[in-house]
Amino acid sequence: MAETMAKTKQVVLRTEQLKAFYVLEVRGIQKIVKAVNDVDLQIYENEIYSIAGESGCGKTTLLKALFNDIVPPLRLLEGKICYRINDEEIDVTRLSKEEKRRLRMEYISFIPQGSMSVFNPVIKIESAFADFIGSHVNERNRAEIFELALRRIQELGLPSNVLDVYPHQLSGGMRQRVTIALASILNPRIMIGDEPTTALDVVVQRGVIQMLMDIQQNLKNTIIMVTHDMGVHANIADRIGIMYAGKIVEEASTETIFAEPVHPYTQFLINSLPKFGDKSMRDSVPGSPPALSDLPSGCPFHPRCPYVKDICRQEMPDFSQLDENHRVACWLVGEN
Ligand SMILES: Nc1ncnc2c1ncn2[C@@H]1O[C@H](COP(=O)(O)OP(=O)(O)OP(=O)(O)O)[C@@H](O)[C@H]1O
Ligand code: SF4
Ligand SMILES: [Mg+2]
Repeated sequence: MAETMAKTKQVVLRTEQLKAFYVLEVRGIQKIVKAVNDVDLQIYENEIYSIAGESGCGKTTLLKALFNDIVPPLRLLEGKICYRINDEEIDVTRLSKEEKRRLRMEYISFIPQGSMSVFNPVIKIESAFADFIGSHVNERNRAEIFELALRRIQELGLPSNVLDVYPHQLSGGMRQRVTIALASILNPRIMIGDEPTTALDVVVQRGVIQMLMDIQQNLKNTIIMVTHDMGVHANIADRIGIMYAGKIVEEASTETIFAEPVHPYTQFLINSLPKFGDKSMRDSVPGSPPALSDLPSGCPFHPRCPYVKDICRQEMPDFSQLDENHRVACWLVGEN
């Protein structure tokens, strides 16, 4: 499926040399945190693209940048973020605040890390839907809005009484599903999920994944998602981007990432996964990730890489394209 994607599918979101840096002040000294550092992405219509990487490597910042909703203390947002709207490519970094606000949720929506933050604890779910839809759709009265919310809730197999409760009255799993229902209510072309299944038990997690896949099938839209759970990546993603220290270092179809990882960091990630029937200790990635405010020279993985060579310490490798969907940034590529 994913192997033919590049040929047949339309790009719905594209970034070019995207950088998102924060400024931190530590004891009077300013430090630049390079959370997203030169990321080029092409995301296709009707695919599920997921991003994996260690904690703190910049995944949430990248998602927020793609959603076009980064707030201070971000000091630098550079490069292009292009959405394809009505057959036209629009660099959304150049739009006005109001234009950006309208695109959010109608063209692209966001499911944040932790569903509680989405809702006001003293407002019932029904009013949250009404406020949200009302702020995006003109000339709809409250009854119509309620009808729309109820229809989506029912389509997604949720009990209709979820609209009549306060957020804290829902279980974590149910609240997460309601959050996803809300994020899909205006049929966005792209839905972004930041760890939508984290902190849920496996059964509830499976329900949430199924719900995301059903929405994607029904709306024929695109999902971009981050998760720490490689099992979730394996179940849901068409393609996976591996992120390390603010950069995508490998990208391929899910099958290729799991069966033939090429970047040494990806190999560690995959080899550290438990294997059925194999009780031996798995190797984890040696050392610790670098501080994004004090990155090593050259390839940022070099202090932890067992294959490091002189050039790795000096220069960041460009991407090598191994096949249509598979690209890797590593000096080893091309060598045996
Ligand atoms: N508002 C902020 N101000 C300053 N630095 C920030 C801010 N938000 C994130 N950072 C820093 O940017 C880097 C990337 O953070 P980000 O939250 O994007 O990582 P992440 O990969 O999503 O991590 P996790 O897996 O733990 O959610 C980290 O070093 C973090 O400390
Ligand atoms: S470029 Fe060098 S240091 Fe970086 S992952 Fe490849 S071999 Fe290791
Ligand atoms: Mg995060």
